[in-house]
Amino acid sequence: DSDISLKEKAAFKIGAAVKMRYLKEDAEYTQALKDNFNQITAEFEMKMDNIWLSEGEYNWEAADYLVQFAEDNNMAIHGHSLVWYRTFPNWFKNQDNDSIAFEAKVKTYITDVVGRYKGKIRSWDVVNEVFADGGGARDEAIIAPLFNDPVAFYGRCFQYAKDADPNAKLFYNDYSVVIDSGKRNAIKDMVATFKAKGYPIDGIGAQFHYGKSTGLTKINEGFTDLASTALLIHISELDIKMNANKSDLFVFSNSIAQEQSAIYESIVKMYEELPENQKFGISTWGVSDKYTWLTTEWHAKEYPLLLDTNFNKKIAYQGFLNGL
Ligand code: XIL
Repeated sequence: DSDISLKEKAAFKIGAAVKMRYLKEDAEYTQALKDNFNQITAEFEMKMDNIWLSEGEYNWEAADYLVQFAEDNNMAIHGHSLVWYRTFPNWFKNQDNDSIAFEAKVKTYITDVVGRYKGKIRSWDVVNEVFADGGGARDEAIIAPLFNDPVAFYGRCFQYAKDADPNAKLFYNDYSVVIDSGKRNAIKDMVATFKAKGYPIDGIGAQFHYGKSTGLTKINEGFTDLASTALLIHISELDIKMNANKSDLFVFSNSIAQEQSAIYESIVKMYEELPENQKFGISTWGVSDKYTWLTTEWHAKEYPLLLDTNFNKKIAYQGFLNGL
């Protein structure tokens, strides 16, 4: 049946990053989401700077809306993301230069957020993007300079989330995970430390913001290596750029669409090679080319997703289906 949808064909979750505003304002968008996907990630509404207004003061409005939307439409919701230096609110990141006070606040935040959605948000990115390209800690990550042993701090963050909702699946999420062996080794070392010390972790989110220049062989090797952790693997933010030089004259021609489709197909096939019990899901970073962060924040002429600007299925949609 050529009309089968991704969510019907896949044996794992098919997710999309969404924005509440589009759900409220664009009925076609909402319909396309419901027709094709069975999991959502909030594109920004569940990040710390959106929820955490000040100590003890939270804005739950958008997060509540999205959780209710998922429940009403029988979709899973993947929580993103609890601890990410880029989304620390200003009032918080400038406040403490001692690790104890800093950690106490983070603990309260994790406990309150995960606790509020206990049983509703089934998985969380607990820690996001703390490793530098090539490995080691990110200089700008705020956390690393505060703690003698940042990895132990991350482990305790996972423990706080676990205590707040023992059934939620807990992920570490990052970009370049499968193409940067230094970063991947840092993640694997962290996972080994967690296992040795008893900190809970269920999975790794590999973002997958790649493009036509990213070598598939390299992706494949890195992916296999990542899977050696035996954890769940979430392709968490998939989109495929085709306009390598960010040219304004770029035209998304039929041959480029075919090329993009082949990349999607290869990635999905590679994912399917994982042991069944490691397949958590594949999420695209957006629903359709009408709204993509590559246009709104990167200002590139890009058509990186599976549905076109009119919510019609692209060739890449068929490529993804073929891979399943
Ligand atoms: C991006 C969103 O797409 C934007 O709307 C937002 O302004 C910034 O964040 N890695 C992540 C995502 O983990 O949260 C990022 O999302 C993309 C890169």
